[in-house]
Amino acid sequence: MKTLLLNPGPVTLTERVRQSLLQPDLCHRESEFYDLQDEARARLLGVYRLDPQEWSAVLMTASGTGAVESMIASLVPRHGKLLIVQNGVYGERMESIAKQYGIAHEIVAHEWMQAPDLARIEACLDANGPFSHVAIVHHETTTGRLNDLSNLGASCRARGAQLLVDAVSSFGAEAIDFNGANIAAVAATANKCLHGVPGASFVVARKQAIEGAASRTYYLDLGRLAKLQAQRNTPFTPSVQAYYALVEALREFEAEGGVQARHARYAALAEQVRGGLAARGIVSILPPGESSVVLRAYALPPGVDYEALHDALKARGFVVYAGQGDLSKHLFRISTMGDIDAADMERLLNAFDALVK
Ligand SMILES: Cc1ncc(COP(=O)(O)O)c(C=O)c1O
Repeated sequence: MKTLLLNPGPVTLTERVRQSLLQPDLCHRESEFYDLQDEARARLLGVYRLDPQEWSAVLMTASGTGAVESMIASLVPRHGKLLIVQNGVYGERMESIAKQYGIAHEIVAHEWMQAPDLARIEACLDANGPFSHVAIVHHETTTGRLNDLSNLGASCRARGAQLLVDAVSSFGAEAIDFNGANIAAVAATANKCLHGVPGASFVVARKQAIEGAASRTYYLDLGRLAKLQAQRNTPFTPSVQAYYALVEALREFEAEGGVQARHARYAALAEQVRGGLAARGIVSILPPGESSVVLRAYALPPGVDYEALHDALKARGFVVYAGQGDLSKHLFRISTMGDIDAADMERLLNAFDALVK
C-alpha cells in the first residue's frame, strides 16, 4: 500500500517528478546545470506571469525557512524598519529572524485563530513609522487561514512601505497580486504547491529591491545569488537533484493549467474532505471563505486524541498532521497538495468511519 502524504509538504510526488530525480549525475559548473537553473528561474516567474524586466526568481538550496530568512535579512536595509504581522507559527518565526539579525522591527500580534486586523496594523504603521517593509505570511499553515494581501498592500503603499511575503505554502495554488499588493518579494519552496522535492527554495523579488539590497547574511545573500545566477553561475554547490525535480514539477504544473488549475483541483479536494468530515461530525475550524485551498484544520473528535487518530490513519495509508503548540490538543490538519485524487479522499473519509463510530 502506498502511503499518501496529507501533511503540508513534502508532498506525494507524481511519477513524472520522481523519475526526474534519476537523470544523469551533473556537475554544477557544467552548462547543463546552468540550463536547468535558467529554466527553473524563468518558469518560476511564469507561474504568476511576472515581467522578467522587473522581477527576478532567485534560487537557493534551503528549505522554505531559508528563503524567508534570505528575503528578510537581505531586503530590509540597514536603516530600514520592519512591521511583522503575526497570526501563527510562521509569523512568529519571522520575528525570530528579525531578532537574530538585529533588524529594527515592530510586531502586530493576533490570536492564532484571528484574521489580521488592518486597523491595528495601520495604527502601528502610523505610530511607529516610517517602515520600509511589512512582513506577512500569505497562507498561515498553522490554522489554514489565507491572509489578505491586497488591502494590506494598499495601506502599505500609502505609507511608503513594501510587502515581504512568506508564500511558502501558497505559491502556485493561491492568487498573488504582485503589483497590486505592493510586493517587494515573495519567499517560497519547491516541495509544497509546486510538487517538487525538499531542498530547493526561492525568492521572487523586484529587481530594484535586489539591486538596493545590503545583505546581513552570508550564505543566503539574495544580491549575490541573483547576480551570479543572472550570469549563469552559482556561488555554492546547489542541490542538483532537487533542481531536476523542481524543473520537471514546473513543466508538469504548466501542462496541467498553471495556478488556476491547481487552485481548482485543491479546492475540489479540500471541499470534498471538509464536506465528508462534516457529515461524520468533524468540523473545520475556519469557514471555507477564510481558508486556503491548500490545507484545512479540523477539531479533533471528542474522546479521540491526535496520536490515536494519526496512527490509525497511517495504518490505512494516510499521513495527517498535528496542530502546532497548544492547538495540538484540539485540532489536526489535512493538506490536499500533491499527487492525490478524489478517489484517494473517498478512501480517507471511509477510514474515518472506523474511527469516529
Ligand atoms: C507558511 C510557512 N512558512 C514557512 C515554513 C517553513 O518551511 P520549511 O519547513 O521548509 O523550512 C512553512 C512550513 O510548513 C510554512 O508553511
